[in-house]
Amino acid sequence: MGIQFKNVSHEYLSIGRSDNAISNINLNIEKEGEFIAILGHTGAGKSTLVQHMNALMYPTSGIVTVFGQDLPPKKRERVNHLRRKVGLVFQFPEYQLFENTIIEDISFGPKNFKETKEHALENAKKAAKQVGLDESMYDKSPFRISGGQMRRVAVAGILAMDPSILVLDEPTRGLDPRGRDEMMEIFNNIHENENKTIVLISHDMDIVSKYAKRMIVLKEGKIVFDGCKEDLFNHKDFDSFNLDLPTPLKMMKYLSKKLNIEYKELYTLDELTSYLKEVKL
Ligand SMILES: Nc1ncnc2c1ncn2[C@@H]1O[C@H](COP(=O)(O)OP(=O)(O)OP(=O)(O)O)[C@@H](O)[C@H]1O
Ligand SMILES: [Mg+2]
Repeated sequence: MGIQFKNVSHEYLSIGRSDNAISNINLNIEKEGEFIAILGHTGAGKSTLVQHMNALMYPTSGIVTVFGQDLPPKKRERVNHLRRKVGLVFQFPEYQLFENTIIEDISFGPKNFKETKEHALENAKKAAKQVGLDESMYDKSPFRISGGQMRRVAVAGILAMDPSILVLDEPTRGLDPRGRDEMMEIFNNIHENENKTIVLISHDMDIVSKYAKRMIVLKEGKIVFDGCKEDLFNHKDFDSFNLDLPTPLKMMKYLSKKLNIEYKELYTLDELTSYLKEVKL
């Protein structure tokens, strides 16, 4: 099951544009256990790609299969239930908050999927706890809290639907370093404790190299790389992917030349620091 793309292209219908935002995408995403990063320069097609994963967009050509259901759907086939199975957190999700209180906002999703009020509230409380929102926040307005807290409320609203796959479009953009780390820990805990598949769009190579296991690189709407991070950073065409190297790798490259020490592939600053403490100069 999970999600499959077969020769998928999407063309936005607008005047003066005829090329595809994504073209000829072939992809298989397992229903559990994956942590995938979607990478690529601005305009590469990342957001377009992931909006096909929960039926927000349909292919112009090709077929996307989400938990066994083909998209575009046949006449009268419903797709709403797929939005529950594949939870999508948009870029700047806090713009979509709208209820009077935080807890009402978080329980909107489950209520909308015809959960009983009690069950929806139970799910909302569990999700609020997962993102670190204290009970004292429940009755506050979602518009009178900090930007970072708003982001948590929006994420909790998706988690409250208990999706099988979680798709995150730049979830840490605009957060300070601590907020960023806390947010990533929330997703990583969900991935590790519940074995859920996470699909993460990010421009932040430090985050990506720390958490993701599989990397998919888009360039001008096409997949130019799909594999593990070690293979990505050593790829002969890496420079053409328009990506940065993660900071620890960049430092390692520089230091190995400057200090003439053995080059090691280290993806976190902690690993790099430990290595530098041990190494003999
Ligand atoms: N609603 C739209 N109408 C027309 N063209 C669009 C629309 N949304 C996106 N595009 C175009 O499709 C291409 C892919 O856009 P997309 O938003 O998927 O890129 P992205 O990789 O998510 O970029 P970013 O990193 O800036 O978020 C771009 O050329 C963009 O201009
Ligand atoms: Mg985008």
